[in-house]
Amino acid sequence: MKKYFKELAVPGWEEIAQKTLDYVVLYTDIFERRAGLSFIFLSSDFLETIKPLINSVFSPYGIKCVNAAVYVMNSSKDGSLHCDNSATADYRINLPILNTKNSYIQFYQVSDTVYHKNAKYTIKLPGASSINTLVDRVEITQPTVISVNDFHEIVMDVEHAPRITMTLFFDKDLKFLLD
Ligand SMILES: [Fe+2]
Repeated sequence: MKKYFKELAVPGWEEIAQKTLDYVVLYTDIFERRAGLSFIFLSSDFLETIKPLINSVFSPYGIKCVNAAVYVMNSSKDGSLHCDNSATADYRINLPILNTKNSYIQFYQVSDTVYHKNAKYTIKLPGASSINTLVDRVEITQPTVISVNDFHEIVMDVEHAPRITMTLFFDKDLKFLLD
């Protein structure tokens, strides 16, 4: 069976999550989703500040962080079914930052897809007559490798908003982490 994710037992990740939460709450534009986008890259200043910690936590895997973003949602609409269609990374590592309990990344097989250009990216969406079949799901409670080029949606606990995760890009294909 295809693996869509894998939870990683890496000590020390909580410090990355805490520092990122401290950063995000300072920037109301990010915390309140003022640009209307869910996916927000970290500023290069903050990225450079936190990279040594990220690289130290993930050093057992021999990988180095090249970029990082946060994903901020106020409702499940902000994480509706899509495929990232990323040319640079099939997998990323997600960390829980805030309100990720009782919230799931759900993976689907999708029978028909269309390309969709939003403000910044060309993603893939299910076509109008697509049949979408739920194949797996994961609650993000620890660092988790995620297949972002398979269709996924994020269903959040609406009682606890915003829901925030951090998503990390690395210099290597992370597929080996799922084996
Ligand atoms: Fe995504």
